[in-house]
Amino acid sequence: MLTNILNKVGNTPLVYLKNDEIPNVKIFAKLEYYNPTGSVKDRAACYIINRALNEGIFNQDTVVIESSSGNFGVALSAYTKMHNLKFICVIDNNTLPVNEMLIKLQGAEIIKITEPDEYGGYLLNRIRKIKELLVEMPNLYWVNQYANTLNAEAYYGSLGREICQEAPGQRVEYVFMGVSSGGTITGVSKRVKKEHPNAKIIAVDIYGSVIFGDTPRKRYIPGIGSSIQPEILEQAIIDEVVLVSEYETILCCKELLEKHNLYAGGSSGSVYAAIKKYFKNREMDAPVNVMCVFADRGERYIETIYNQKWSEMIMNSSLQENLL
Ligand SMILES: Cc1ncc(COP(=O)(O)O)c(C=O)c1O
Repeated sequence: MLTNILNKVGNTPLVYLKNDEIPNVKIFAKLEYYNPTGSVKDRAACYIINRALNEGIFNQDTVVIESSSGNFGVALSAYTKMHNLKFICVIDNNTLPVNEMLIKLQGAEIIKITEPDEYGGYLLNRIRKIKELLVEMPNLYWVNQYANTLNAEAYYGSLGREICQEAPGQRVEYVFMGVSSGGTITGVSKRVKKEHPNAKIIAVDIYGSVIFGDTPRKRYIPGIGSSIQPEILEQAIIDEVVLVSEYETILCCKELLEKHNLYAGGSSGSVYAAIKKYFKNREMDAPVNVMCVFADRGERYIETIYNQKWSEMIMNSSLQENLL
């Protein structure tokens, strides 16, 4: 019996997505939205807090701070609360109301950045705010998911291991993952390459994200992409990058629901779109196992991806910019 649901991190279901479109491509998705607070980020939040407390990196007087407008903020607010730690979450004007509500209800202090940075986003100003506070408050611990090696380690020992163990016949030919802070792909790629050196690791990003060098452009779907190049990615072992549009992401989220009964979040649609795009002109002579990560669930996107008016508006703007 569990004494706290937050201890049930990982061992998420692996589901086979039957497809008739791409012969010999066997798609298996890790449903990370079965983690306690609803996303893959529980793995990092739980691991980082436990390691930091166990190794004396911080103590009960420490105030944890992080910049996150989404899943990581929700996860950290839960795991800090569980350990009676104070948590400050730096969010911005684009944070979904549901995430802000969840972060607040779990007792975190919220600092909301309303002034856009020089790129029109908020990330740089969120980080500037944290740097200011670090000078003023000596007991602050900045999780810093973009550079903290613990973020990648969390995935090496859990999600990476599970993918290797659960792949049918323990054969892993491809792994597709969405990228934002880079923690997931860094940890998983290192583990998968250790156990399956010939597996191909495919990073999935969205047009307008600068992570892999695309031109910065306004993006609307949270959780995937970034306006900075995360330091942690220097350790990742990536074979190829597939960029997809928000148009393809929305279509694929809807297809996942219609064809596979999966009510998944934005980056899951991006990952599914990337798999279809990647294999469209590549014929596989023999069956290959394509493992992928579905990072969060659809509920948080009820007013966006699953809202007809919003999704049509974003798809039209992708069409106008010729981003299909
Ligand atoms: C929905 C979603 N997908 C993918 C990711 C990417 O994970 P990472 O930050 O480890 O690159 C995140 C991270 O927040 C996310 O929230």
